[in-house]
Amino acid sequence: MTKEEEEEEEEEEEEDLEELPWWKTSIVYQVYPRSFMDSTGSGVGDLIGIASKADYLRDLGVGAVWLSPVFTSPMADFGYDVSNFTDIDPVFGDLQDFDFLLEEMHRRDLKVILDFVPNHTSDQHEWFLKSVRREDPFTHYYVWEDAAGYNASGHPFPPSNWLSVFRGSAWEWVEEREQFYLHQFLAEQPDLNFRNPAVREEIKDAMRFWLDRGVDGFRVDALKFLFEARNAFEDEPRAQDSDVEDPLQYEFLEHTLTVDRPETLEALAEWRELVGEYEDRFLMVEVYADVNETMKYYGNESHPLADFPFNFLLIDSFQSRDNLTGESVMAVIDDWMTNMPEGKWPNWVIGNHDNSRVASRLGSDLVDALNMLILLLPGTPVTYYGEEIGMEDTFVSWEDTQDPRGLNFGPERYLEFSRDPARSPMQWGDEPNAGFSTANATWLPANANLTSLNVATQDEAEASHLGVYRQLSELRREVTFVRGDLAFPLVTEEVIAILRSYKRAPSYLLVINTSEYDVTVDLQQGTTLPEVGTVVLRSVTDTSDATMLGSKVQLNNVTLVGGEGIVFKFPQV
Ligand code: GLC
Repeated sequence: MTKEEEEEEEEEEEEDLEELPWWKTSIVYQVYPRSFMDSTGSGVGDLIGIASKADYLRDLGVGAVWLSPVFTSPMADFGYDVSNFTDIDPVFGDLQDFDFLLEEMHRRDLKVILDFVPNHTSDQHEWFLKSVRREDPFTHYYVWEDAAGYNASGHPFPPSNWLSVFRGSAWEWVEEREQFYLHQFLAEQPDLNFRNPAVREEIKDAMRFWLDRGVDGFRVDALKFLFEARNAFEDEPRAQDSDVEDPLQYEFLEHTLTVDRPETLEALAEWRELVGEYEDRFLMVEVYADVNETMKYYGNESHPLADFPFNFLLIDSFQSRDNLTGESVMAVIDDWMTNMPEGKWPNWVIGNHDNSRVASRLGSDLVDALNMLILLLPGTPVTYYGEEIGMEDTFVSWEDTQDPRGLNFGPERYLEFSRDPARSPMQWGDEPNAGFSTANATWLPANANLTSLNVATQDEAEASHLGVYRQLSELRREVTFVRGDLAFPLVTEEVIAILRSYKRAPSYLLVINTSEYDVTVDLQQGTTLPEVGTVVLRSVTDTSDATMLGSKVQLNNVTLVGGEGIVFKFPQV
């Protein structure tokens, strides 16, 4: 290659980086506002608290902050029951605080994504109160149905057997209106009637309100539940291969009538269009479904829908360490990459406010390796607050349990279902409440491991999860990660090796030992990898001299400790 050609290609590589929309090169960082930072001493986090951590977020290297709902809410489902879509709940602050937060973030080049909850409102929303009273235009804002019949003592039967995700019937009787309303979540979260054009307009107005204010996009909550079959009197069948015996548990039924309806994609198309009227805005959607169903929410090139539906495969497939192997990790990555529609962008999620924390689910030895995985694969990683320091689930007693899903299962079963353990206060330091709040008691207790596991301690340590995370967020800006190809030169039961390469740029090899014990691998056998690689990152659990940062390692003989990840660099392969 001549010098000119080389220069041309370099320029091309730089251009390649510039052309992409921000959300393709950013890490999305999820903040659960109740638990991030409390600026008032109330024991609950707030917007000013989040703003006070803007430097932390910038230094972490994330590009966008997604806030779980901060709208006015009675908090039956901690903000996912909205009683006013266009105001801030006083627990979190007010609109002025919100504008301040937005400004603080934007000044640091951080985008702000709001959680948007279109499927339902709070039962305290003005629309619902008026709908109960059949006050127009609100009469048909919700999914109201007559009783299927009455027993001898006048007790009404619900239209069908449909169940709430949080356990129990999805139908609630309202004496005043003498009808049932549908709630796919809590009774305090009545489902909106999306067949009513007025409802669709209301929701779009609420989206415009925030877009006009300058938010950079939305995470759409519980999207697959938007529409149900028109005939609400038809029952759903029993789930075929489920071992659930509790007839009130959601998984008891197969949801053939209440999720993933084609009309939902039409509503999403309307929002895509609306968001597209603004410059540079972003739309990601929450859909827990099988991969084929999930992919529909991307749309296609001529009919784009979400920028992406969350990829929950790394959560769904790995509920415990049991079936985590090099091979199964590769299969899961492949599953997304090969099913994704042409021209679409992948994303990777290992935790959120609805699931057990990844360090507890899979093992704290894997913290760095999993952050390496999601940050170095092609696509957008989503980090749940605290994953950068390896936060673990917090034990919350029955008496202290807050999560309505946990409460619905009672003292015997709550531990299996409560989402509180993953929502405990961010561990900033080793002071009381982990430096999250000056209150005597916080809404959920901080984890007892806060004395050793916190941001301040990791900041000072020579090697830490936080340090690894910051290096990763820097590393992934390289064109190889943004644009590069993906290959798996070596995959065994224990180990997965992931190669990223791009034109003449340096190549990187991420090697992960998914097992709990030391493993030595020959990364050259049967591969075309070079003889030597330079270590650019490794898990903090590895303290051996052989893999110190910067060392050149013979790739035919690499030892990884249990759960370790190592990143090697070499000239283009
Ligand atoms: C989504 C949210 C969850 C909430 C539910 C109802 O799944 O992530 O936290 O409880 O929707 O809004």
